[in-house]
Amino acid sequence: MGIRLGEPRMPALLTGHGRPGFYLRVLQEGEVGAGDPITLVHRDPAGLTVRRVSQLLYTAARDAASLRAALAVPALSEGWKESFRQLLAAGVRPGNAGLAPQAASEPAYPGFRRFAVTRVVRESARVVSVHLDPGDGGAVSSWLPGQYVPVRLVDADGPVVRSYSLSTPTGPRMRISVKREGRGSGLVHALRVGAAVEVAAPRGGFGFDPSAAEPAVLVSAGIGVTPLLSCLLAQAATRPERRIVWVHVARSPAEHSLAAEADAALARMPAAVRHLRYTAADAATRGDAAGRLTLEALADLGVDAAFSAYVCGPDGFAAGVRGMLDALGLPATAVHVESFGSAAAGGTAGRSAHPPSRSAHPPSPPAAGGPPVTFARAGVTTGFDPSRWGNLLELAEACDVPVRWSCRTGVCHSCETSLVDGAVDYEPEPLEPPGGELVLVCCARPTAAVTLDL
Ligand code: FES
Repeated sequence: MGIRLGEPRMPALLTGHGRPGFYLRVLQEGEVGAGDPITLVHRDPAGLTVRRVSQLLYTAARDAASLRAALAVPALSEGWKESFRQLLAAGVRPGNAGLAPQAASEPAYPGFRRFAVTRVVRESARVVSVHLDPGDGGAVSSWLPGQYVPVRLVDADGPVVRSYSLSTPTGPRMRISVKREGRGSGLVHALRVGAAVEVAAPRGGFGFDPSAAEPAVLVSAGIGVTPLLSCLLAQAATRPERRIVWVHVARSPAEHSLAAEADAALARMPAAVRHLRYTAADAATRGDAAGRLTLEALADLGVDAAFSAYVCGPDGFAAGVRGMLDALGLPATAVHVESFGSAAAGGTAGRSAHPPSRSAHPPSPPAAGGPPVTFARAGVTTGFDPSRWGNLLELAEACDVPVRWSCRTGVCHSCETSLVDGAVDYEPEPLEPPGGELVLVCCARPTAAVTLDL
């Protein structure tokens, strides 16, 4: 609508003025034309109008009684009802849990906090684990299995921000396990006990629930094991009897990180099975099966449509596994994938929607000034030049940084992103502001240096 009318704010104007338009479900087929009369045959007893239902979802003009009334309307689709359930569950929390239920969970603290390195452990030829305690003596915030933290380090060329999965499910201290692959991970590998590191609050993750009843398959490749090990350890600690299929692919035993820890957890889980594969030619026979993972192997392990699946690894691997799970009948909603970000710095989580055709990169030509913007997952920092980009979404696209979007005018919250650090203003103003440490990148411009969880 905005593109056709040459007015980018049109979706926001339509929705904001209470005339959003709507689709009708066809109950009985027939011919409909302009000028046909419309006859009211039934009015819902709750008296909710289309305008009011739209308002309830897209604006802050809502209350619990109206949400409950909307939930009781039989004609309302399950999608709308689920949004209203999320809004009711979220209570008065800022942001729109109906449109962005996962992103609307707030991080434990804003910006970065100083941590100290308390232990460094070499896990394999190219992976180290770094244990971190809050440097201010405060308590470490809790996190969920599979979540990651943005980490800010500094070298002679300036600050570097990267996101790394937490490889344990609980404290007392955080642990990141990082493969050496580039500038950011090189700085992590150079850390020694006592060094200071800036760490933002845990965020993201698969939504892995150790209390869930259905069987689960956890599939990882390489350093993608880190978030899944956290899930496995949480499962072993809380409900070890759950049926878990643990699948891991590494190049060789020398590059197989955190193996002993995973095996110890699996040994405490009577219904769990392990399936390990090494892909290097001289190590292929040392796993539980030789060579690359196959659909037949997953089927032989008993993985079927009743399972939920959690997958982390390089993009090609994750896409292949997703295809196998689809072939085994798992519904898309049961498959949770974290692929490495374009920096591929190890344990780095990326988004799967609107994936770019190539790796993230600084804009071309380079930005000439403007507030620095860091895309933490993609590992890209660049200036925001307002003469070239109208908002942070356009800058992300210029850098091929994966990002979700739909309306591009602050209505749908599809582009809601965690603001790790910094400040923005909006043009146009979103219909409903995002929650505390979140930003709608489609209509936001930085007013200072910002770090985004993208
Ligand atoms: S709010 Fe819809 S894309 Fe940003």
